[in-house]
Amino acid sequence: MCGIVGYVGIRQAFPILIEGLEKLEYRGYDSAGVCILKPGRSYGQPGSMEIIKTEGRVSRLKSLAAGKDTIGTCGIAHTRWATHGNPCAANAHPHVSMSGNLAIVHNGIIENYRVIKNQLLERGYVFTSDTDTEVLVQLIDYYYKSNGHVLTEAVRSALGRCYGAYAIAVTEREDPEHIVVARKASPLVIGIGEDEKEYFIASDATPMIEYTHKVVYLDDDQIADVRPGKDIALTDLVGVKADVTVHEVDVDISMLSKGGFPHFMLKEIFEQPDCLRDCMRGRVILGDREEDNRIVLSALRDCHDRLVNAKNIIIVACGTSWHAGLIGKQLIEQLCRRRVEVEYASEFRYRNPVIEPDDVVIAISQSGETADTLAAIGLAKKAGALVFGIVNVVGSSIARESDTGIYIHVGPELGVASTKAFTGQVAVLVMLALALGFELGTLDRKEYCRTISELAAIPDKMKETLQTNDYIKDLSKIYTYASNFLYLGRGFNYPVALEGALKLKEISYIHAEGYPAAEMKHGPIALVDANMPIVFLATHHQLYEKIISNMREVQARNGRILAIVTEGDEEVRTIARDIIEVPSTIALLAPLLSVLPLQMLAYHIAVLKGLDVDMPRNLAKSVTVE
Ligand code: AGP
Repeated sequence: MCGIVGYVGIRQAFPILIEGLEKLEYRGYDSAGVCILKPGRSYGQPGSMEIIKTEGRVSRLKSLAAGKDTIGTCGIAHTRWATHGNPCAANAHPHVSMSGNLAIVHNGIIENYRVIKNQLLERGYVFTSDTDTEVLVQLIDYYYKSNGHVLTEAVRSALGRCYGAYAIAVTEREDPEHIVVARKASPLVIGIGEDEKEYFIASDATPMIEYTHKVVYLDDDQIADVRPGKDIALTDLVGVKADVTVHEVDVDISMLSKGGFPHFMLKEIFEQPDCLRDCMRGRVILGDREEDNRIVLSALRDCHDRLVNAKNIIIVACGTSWHAGLIGKQLIEQLCRRRVEVEYASEFRYRNPVIEPDDVVIAISQSGETADTLAAIGLAKKAGALVFGIVNVVGSSIARESDTGIYIHVGPELGVASTKAFTGQVAVLVMLALALGFELGTLDRKEYCRTISELAAIPDKMKETLQTNDYIKDLSKIYTYASNFLYLGRGFNYPVALEGALKLKEISYIHAEGYPAAEMKHGPIALVDANMPIVFLATHHQLYEKIISNMREVQARNGRILAIVTEGDEEVRTIARDIIEVPSTIALLAPLLSVLPLQMLAYHIAVLKGLDVDMPRNLAKSVTVE
């Protein structure tokens, strides 16, 4: 979703802004723009602003900028994911106020923009775009004019009248070494350059880690005044000073490159064995004897009583993270004998749900910025429940809003289609269910220790599974013809079927649906014919025999079956047209292996169709609007 980059300091801003936008491309966008502040001819004279905007990619913005005067040490830039108004240059950011004094980039939605726009129209303001953002900059301009050109105060007054979500960066022509930023429910990070001679601004830390690892995360309702050579002046919406807390970002620049792979998605699929090792490091402890195995989770230690005494456990998430949540439900119910509900955060937040103070709400999110999940957390906190975050991005809003939690530690995920985050989330949920079940006494030591050994073996088994990549690549050629797919699984593999279908539709634009296999007879079987590929998750676990029966039903109707099976399976081979083998493991760990072929299948089909795997149309990596 929209990406913001800003720079003010001692270097030329333009290349930093463009490279920053390129690093944020993974978030998904449809237009881009940049504003460079130009100093006045002599000291104290107002400067000017060079604005370049276009529909389409950052590369197009770069070509448009060639030949223009982009010299200047301060600027703001943006990639836009259209919400109000179609993707076009006029709607792209930065937006400039009618007076030409101010420019803004904005991520989020100003919900009451219509009312404000009408009031501004009455005052003679003219608008050149369909966006809510242009309304905001005109409103800031209105206060700016009436308060004697004090930008920070004008921003404060304007935001005081807005509802909705925003991360903004605003610059002024009269003071071309000054950026004012603010946030509410949309992420914004300030990077501090050496000796505070320069500052970097962005939606997340990726554009700045080449220059600095020292960052400040803005909290909701905070406004920061950023000027080189001066400390960041942080205040809240009514002007009360706030403390500036500086964090160290632990991300290596090499994590942000494709490392020889053609796409981030493929790189991230292949990283999964190492990611799971990182995720389990220091948490899965193998003893010399199996009975000494244990799981160590600091979150369980810190909030022991509230977790152990949880009345209900509610998991809130969206998309792939929601699928991981469905697996979490089965894990916790099986190992801890606690009732677990799994909710789409977007539904939960508007449903007036029953949440009690002794409930635990587990929020799962790769980005840690998903607007609906954040709102669901807000509800849970209001009700006094313990909020437990399972998040990848360190320092993200959900991580900071949670009372406690576990980072999945799989490194930056840049492909829009989530892969390694899913397996990281599932691994964390396995560890949590094991540790909690053992603590509660619902899981005996033998099963606890045995499962830990199996879990520790998963990274090597993932590596083995990834060796099917070339075979799947070939197989994909057969399946690119299809315009519909059905994915079927049961038990722990049912959420994997949902995830496989989501992966395929996200990046190949082929319609795909996931179902619990037995539900097929209640409707989807009507779709089955010789042109309809049906992917069965048929690993050797609970309900295997029943899955075989479901397959025979499809076979009888000439459906084309592709089955994911446990290596050595002979029976499915006689029914399915194609099979992909995965190593054997226990049922509750099956998703960690069976999802990999589905990720690879989706990837290769999309590549064969010539599609942009890492930046599929209409999708955003970080969904910061509801
Ligand atoms: C996954 O492939 C998707 N891109 C999407 O469903 C994603 O999982 C969802 O938007 C939730 O994101 P989060 O995990 O960052 O909260």
